[in-house]
Amino acid sequence: MAAQLIDGKAFAASVRKQVAVHVRRLKVHYNIVPGLAVVLVGEDPASEVYVRNKGKQTIEVGMNSFEHKLPADTSEADLLKLIDDLNKDPAVHGILCQLPLPDHLNEDLIINSIAPDKDVDGFHISNVGLLGTGQKSMVPCTPLGCLMMLRDHHGSLSGLNAVVVGRSNIVGKPMANLLLNDSCTVIIAHSRTKNIEALCKQADILVAAVGRPEMINADWIKSGATVIDVGINRIPAPEKGEGKMKLVGDVDFASASDVAGAITPVPGGVGPMTIACLLANTVTACCRANDLEEPEGLTA
Ligand code: GUN
Repeated sequence: MAAQLIDGKAFAASVRKQVAVHVRRLKVHYNIVPGLAVVLVGEDPASEVYVRNKGKQTIEVGMNSFEHKLPADTSEADLLKLIDDLNKDPAVHGILCQLPLPDHLNEDLIINSIAPDKDVDGFHISNVGLLGTGQKSMVPCTPLGCLMMLRDHHGSLSGLNAVVVGRSNIVGKPMANLLLNDSCTVIIAHSRTKNIEALCKQADILVAAVGRPEMINADWIKSGATVIDVGINRIPAPEKGEGKMKLVGDVDFASASDVAGAITPVPGGVGPMTIACLLANTVTACCRANDLEEPEGLTA
């Protein structure tokens, strides 16, 4: 392995530590405690794990955590009423509605009912537009985490060739906008892209966010490139024993790490950064709501 390992777990711990410092400062100087409300509709087991982890880490950094667990058959009107109440609640600075929502609920409608200033997911159409035009916004957590790691590794990203593989609203598109705002030359590649392998091989920065286990291997990677693997895929691991599973990224780590200059592992790369950036967004939202200077280095 030639590549330097980008340790997302350690990076996320340092982001949480910075968040905790700002939370303490807000309490001591202004008697303000940032509050994050998380709304979970239904009983999807993976979502329940995410929400539990978010609540736990929110409390660990000294913020208030408000959890709202609603039954799977909650009506759209009832969910909109709850979000309206949270929008108006001065103790709530960030609101996150866990996705996916049950099929009978209109996801776009629900997301766009969250006050943009409290939209710590950065999914509201206003925040999407602000990011796309290079203005101050709330930035989606996973791409924000990737950007922080890239800035930390490279310093300036100006002029670098970046290829983002994947065009989702949650990762691919905001990631491309963030890199463009940092003056990268950006290509978004996807399932219909022609000569995708050759295209990726031109990248100084390659961000993989397609959800296809180990799709990208050493042949796709330019020597010395920085590879950010957003994928979290659970696949069978017969080598560990019958019925065992393991987590892998969208990048074939074993081959890619022989060619790349730096690479994020899975697990322990991008994954831990997502919740850390959610906490960072909540403290940022709290500072903006109170007309206070926002923490440096915790946003785009
Ligand atoms: N479900 C999976 N990831 C996310 C996320 O980042 N935000 C929300 N709201 N739901 C999710």
